Amino acid sequence: MANTFQAALDTIPEDLVCLSDYASYAKNHMSHAVYEYIVGGGADELTLRRNRSKLDDITIHPRVLIDCTQGGTQIEILGETWRHPMMLAPVAFQQLVHPEGEIATAQAASILETGMMVSTLSTVSLEKIAEELESPKWFQLYFQQSRDFSLSLVRRAEAAGYTKLVVTIDAPLHGIRNRAQRAKFVLPEGVEAVNLVDRPHLPSAAFDPSQSIVLQGMMSETPTWDDIEWLKANTALPIILKGILSPADAVKAVAMGIEGIVVSNHGGRTLDCVPAAIEALPHIRKAVGKDYTLLFDGGIERGTDVFKALALGANAVLIGRPQVYALAVAGALGVGHMLRILREELEVAMALAGTPTIDSIGVDSLWNY
Ligand SMILES: Cc1cc2nc3c(=O)[nH]c(=O)nc-3n(C[C@H](O)[C@H](O)[C@H](O)COP(=O)(O)O)c2cc1C
Repeated sequence: MANTFQAALDTIPEDLVCLSDYASYAKNHMSHAVYEYIVGGGADELTLRRNRSKLDDITIHPRVLIDCTQGGTQIEILGETWRHPMMLAPVAFQQLVHPEGEIATAQAASILETGMMVSTLSTVSLEKIAEELESPKWFQLYFQQSRDFSLSLVRRAEAAGYTKLVVTIDAPLHGIRNRAQRAKFVLPEGVEAVNLVDRPHLPSAAFDPSQSIVLQGMMSETPTWDDIEWLKANTALPIILKGILSPADAVKAVAMGIEGIVVSNHGGRTLDCVPAAIEALPHIRKAVGKDYTLLFDGGIERGTDVFKALALGANAVLIGRPQVYALAVAGALGVGHMLRILREELEVAMALAGTPTIDSIGVDSLWNY
């Protein structure tokens, strides 16, 4: 049966007022299989649900009668000034939900002065996205089978003006994605990872039935700490590692001279049964010290969620699924509207909690910490 779904809207409906409204609307603007691929998590989705439920469990400790008129949301991150402590997370294959894909997202990010991490698996070339993007542009690298090819992506990102490399390390292979399997999700014709079209097709590790297909087969081609060292020696761009949950790994990254970390479980899409990202965050902040750059993602849907993550030690947060929902519902207009809602909600939370600046948000801004 052919899927029927609506094209993106060119005005925002009046009852679309928060990020979870975008999630509800999005169902009507993409095929069932695509929706299931985007919304889903790993296996039983315990971690996916935990990302939200642990954020919900945190309560804010508001202070009153504080003058907030001189407040603001501006921050400094690794030498860059950001209008607010938010960035768009790298999300692959955006033409799945809108014909303009990453171009529309980049236009919205530019207008809202919000940075964008551009995925290796974008459906528009990293160069074309960079031309469109006037806000902070960071390139997210998935290591490729060939080091030469990985390096060619890095060189292209450098030449296109990306200022940081975000290396995603928690998804060396797909998690168990039962929801996408049941919905028979496959990439439709015409939607592809255009940055990778020239990649050399190297032979995969020979199949030996006496060995584990996953551990000794697929994993033999995935990166290790040695590859991070190698990358560091081969680029002048600052490196951020995305997908750390363990304080021990965080300490290792700091010792290696890695400039920043994204505390993340990939939106609950890789290994199920790991902690919510918000549970790991304070442990990692403690391990890396107060001045190290930490970004956070996983379940952010409200300004109060951003507030909670900042209070627990994040310098800024990333927005994953809501950007795709907004893109599907109303293209660049939707992504811009979604970001504006989140920014205003954060400012309202700051004003009502009596924390006029980002620096004034700390662990004592929370009730149960
Ligand atoms: C459809 C989809 C595609 C994603 N693609 C990538 C990707 O290409 N690279 C990457 O580092 N993370 C990718 N992620 C993970 C996000 O960057 C981010 O870590 C996660 O979505 C955050 O959780 P949230 O969706 O609850 O905000 C993807 C997530 C989704 C939902």
